[in-house]
Amino acid sequence: MERFSVPTTVCFGPDALDALKELAGRRVLVVTDEFLARSGLLEQVLARLEGCTVDTFTGVVPDPPLEVVARGVRRTEDFRPDALVAFGGGSAMDCAKAMAHFSTLHPPLWAIPTTAGTGSEVTSFAVLTNSRQGVKYPLVDDSLLPQLAVLDPAFLAQIPPAVTADTGMDVLTHAAEAYVASRATPYSDALAEKAFTLAWENLPAAFAAQGAAPAKADMLLASNLAGLAFNTAGLGLCHGMAHALGGKYHLPHGRLNAMLLPHIIRFNAAEAGTAKKYGRLARLCGLSPTWRALAFGLDRLRGQLKLPAKLSACGVEGKTVRSDAEAIAAAALADRCTPANPRPATGEEVTAILKELV
Ligand SMILES: NC(=O)c1ccc[n+]([C@@H]2O[C@H](COP(=O)([O-])OP(=O)(O)OC[C@H]3O[C@@H](n4cnc5c(N)ncnc54)[C@H](O)[C@@H]3O)[C@@H](O)[C@H]2O)c1
Ligand SMILES: [Fe+2]
Repeated sequence: MERFSVPTTVCFGPDALDALKELAGRRVLVVTDEFLARSGLLEQVLARLEGCTVDTFTGVVPDPPLEVVARGVRRTEDFRPDALVAFGGGSAMDCAKAMAHFSTLHPPLWAIPTTAGTGSEVTSFAVLTNSRQGVKYPLVDDSLLPQLAVLDPAFLAQIPPAVTADTGMDVLTHAAEAYVASRATPYSDALAEKAFTLAWENLPAAFAAQGAAPAKADMLLASNLAGLAFNTAGLGLCHGMAHALGGKYHLPHGRLNAMLLPHIIRFNAAEAGTAKKYGRLARLCGLSPTWRALAFGLDRLRGQLKLPAKLSACGVEGKTVRSDAEAIAAAALADRCTPANPRPATGEEVTAILKELV
């Protein structure tokens, strides 16, 4: 028997932020980063928490390290909130998830994404970093699922184009990996197809737009749909390798996925059924119905978004990658995302893919 459920309530459309008013009278700990706290955006969230006793934890940094999570857990224990509200990108949402998970109180979590994005507002994943060991790994547990998610594209109006590019490529990677993942079902396929085509059509316009734009709203929706898809279907080797590389070199998650995805498609297309599914995605995007057209199209889009194709363009030298290759391959194969890949990989095969990035 297979099951499909969407445990998180998703609020979207005009006035979605008003959902926060349901927290009136409660103790609420808002989890965010310094940039969002100072940007003026946080005030819009706080204004909806009228009648609440509010504390704000602004210590989140990209790829949240365990030390930051530990500080957040202490704040949670001290403040004893009835609910956590995560406000930010994947880093803020994942930090808040871990804070709720590791505190003894396990408060429910509400999530407001400000990037499009990780889809973390609807997933059982929280990606954490052990900075000392240079390891980034996902916690995966249904208890990490937010209770409620608020999608408000107004928060994306002033997002820098580079963040739109990185996070948008993460959306496409979530959808593409979920579509061919070993646990894919007709339900996750429907979500992945919609997420991929919506992101494919809107990412260039979202990247080019200054200020609020319909394309940014569609990217936020695509990000959410892709999160729902991979939460049930799983991800794959691209995410396993992106986590391993991100732990070592601390590069933006979506940028690593953008670099890796065409190579992973080439690797996975050796399986006939997987190649056929990639071809179907390509056709839905108006490309030739082949895996090659999909890989080529994604590579072209990466270039259009001014994202690098090689690690050397991100300041990581070839000799560094070569000396780290064995450890990176081992971490990628041990990652919780990798087993859902449609084609099992060996250490040598992962190392061969890494060489393509040098
Ligand atoms: N939990 C999941 O399901 C899941 C899935 C994929 C990735 N992740 C993880 O999420 C993290 C990446 O999250 P992300 O890509 O959203 O980036 P992020 O949360 O790290 O944010 C990147 C930068 O963008 C800034 N930013 C965020 N919103 C902004 C806005 N509206 N305007 C201007 N600047 C803004 C942040 O301050 C930060 O400096 C990684 O650790 C990744 O591994 C988690
Ligand atoms: Fe991701």
